[in-house]
Amino acid sequence: VPTPFLESLESLESLVTPALVVDVAVLDRNLAAMAQHAAAGGVALRPHAKTHKCLQVAARQLSLGAAGLSVATVGEAEVLADGGIDDLFIAYPVWADAGRAGRLRALCERVRLTVGVDSPAGAAALGRAVAGAGSPPEVLVEVDCGQHRSGVGPGAVAGVARVADDAGLRVTGVFSFPGHAYRPGAPPGAAADEARALGEAASVLTDAGFEPAVRSGGSTPTARHTGAGVTELRPGVYAFNDAQQVWLGTCGIDDVALCALATVVSAPAPDRVILDAGSKILGADHPDWAPGHGIVPALNGALVTSLSEHHAVVPLPDGARRPEVGERLTVVPTHVCNAVNLVDELAAVQDGDVLDVWPVAARGANR
Ligand SMILES: Cc1ncc(COP(=O)(O)O)c(C=O)c1O
Repeated sequence: VPTPFLESLESLESLVTPALVVDVAVLDRNLAAMAQHAAAGGVALRPHAKTHKCLQVAARQLSLGAAGLSVATVGEAEVLADGGIDDLFIAYPVWADAGRAGRLRALCERVRLTVGVDSPAGAAALGRAVAGAGSPPEVLVEVDCGQHRSGVGPGAVAGVARVADDAGLRVTGVFSFPGHAYRPGAPPGAAADEARALGEAASVLTDAGFEPAVRSGGSTPTARHTGAGVTELRPGVYAFNDAQQVWLGTCGIDDVALCALATVVSAPAPDRVILDAGSKILGADHPDWAPGHGIVPALNGALVTSLSEHHAVVPLPDGARRPEVGERLTVVPTHVCNAVNLVDELAAVQDGDVLDVWPVAARGANR
């Protein structure tokens, strides 16, 4: 297994471990490849900012032609709007309560805002919350395409859309998230499920007198398998990639643009070392099918087999050299969104040097 990046870790000596480092060249390659894929398929790209929460990465995505950004919370939308991004989709069934109403109205005044809804009550509450705003938000009705998380069945979208319309909102389409793609072998089928569900939902809206121009879908594993009829893609992880994407076959280890820089703090047995990259930097997300909690490329692709908050346990595979205590190594996190959410800043590395420090600006903007 090749070392994905950071060939020369000496240049990162100034960083105190554990730290998250971004290889800017790999990031730019990933961003450009997805932008080209979307352009070639004639679909809009609206990357999900939950992965990076970082204005520097958002700016790169927009400069490559992204239509706008997707976010999960009103707070994330506020941070990106403060950063000058003027077209935002909150891809979440927002509950527009008193703590969000004024903030949603303020967002409508300064950006083109689109909000997800998946219930008549949620649509009515959103309508009440933004009543009187100069330009009310557009609304996309969320469709469940197989993950069975949020979203209504395609047949139920018209009921939600009618309530939104009666509440003064402009229904412009449907969206879904094919989260059931996150299993080995599942991405092509999940992409087909999503295209079918979005198509059915859009027909139902058309029959009910709406004009569903937007059919927004996509995740990182399904982005390459996009079905016909999807008009917009919202992948997030593709910017950095992670171990989960490597195991799913979405990308190769060389496409990983973000790693945790870690130090070997203990070598208690001939065949095991301990790194200082615990769950407090790698994140604790661990799907049941995943073979480990992270990959250590420089040790023949060794796996992190267990995590405590400040310890990563790494059994050495056959043939792997035994690193010394004090040596620095990179670890590919299992789920990069989790890892980024745990740090205040990312060290941006280019040509072996720390080029910049990027604040994780929307970190903690969870409400
Ligand atoms: C609603 C929604 N859209 C898009 C994405 C981005 O997909 P991915 O994380 O596979 O890049 C997510 C991720 O959780 C999501 O929940």
